[in-house]
Amino acid sequence: MKKFDNVTILDHPLINHKIAILRSVDTHTKDFREIVEEITTLMTYEAFKDVPTREVEVVTPLEKCAQRMVAENCVAVVPVLRAGLGMVSGVHTLFPTAKVGHIGMYRDEQTLQPQEYYCKLPDGIEKMRTVVLDPMLATGGSAAAAIAQLKKRGCKDIRQMSIIAAPEGVEKLATAHPDVKIYVAVLDRCLNENGYILPGLGDAGDRLFGTK
Ligand code: PRP
Ligand code: URA
Repeated sequence: MKKFDNVTILDHPLINHKIAILRSVDTHTKDFREIVEEITTLMTYEAFKDVPTREVEVVTPLEKCAQRMVAENCVAVVPVLRAGLGMVSGVHTLFPTAKVGHIGMYRDEQTLQPQEYYCKLPDGIEKMRTVVLDPMLATGGSAAAAIAQLKKRGCKDIRQMSIIAAPEGVEKLATAHPDVKIYVAVLDRCLNENGYILPGLGDAGDRLFGTK
């Protein structure tokens, strides 16, 4: 795959260990959901490295000191329904004050084009850093459409966080939105003829919510 400046592939042994469990057909809903949450927490640590901070004064038992804490009202995460929902609690573990917006999107099974069916975003989101959450970046169509929707609402500082990506999806998203930083835990081989990531993990929404 071509190299893009706005793409970070974490490829971390501790995350890869968890992804191996996630991929397995023998991993069932409860464990699948917990591992998605854990991986998201680990990814949050990396993707939020440059989160805005503010200075505060803290009194220790010995003296006063200036410290930095995360700024308030500065970040919104936007899960793409359904599967992105599984990542929200993973972000909140490290960043409990992150606001949450929701974008509902499903892929048309024939055309693979994203169809938006829901959008509810926090007031003032245009002033916040927004992080789109979706475990799967396949053709990149859903992520590109979600980001276009955020831009339409005036958002300027936008990131994408996905667990597994196909090269096709990364290329599409990085080209369509070169201003968006993309964080991916692992890059897989390719898409199959139905737009599923290989080796992938199957349908993330179905595996998270037990619908098949
Ligand atoms: C899955 C996944 C992404 C999308 C990725 O959602 O959660 O949103 O496909 O594919 P793309 O990169 O080719 O757009 P799906 O459409 O299956 O909806 P669901 O989460 O409700 O199952
Ligand atoms: N959506 C999924 O849930 N899995 C894929 O492999 C591709 C799209």
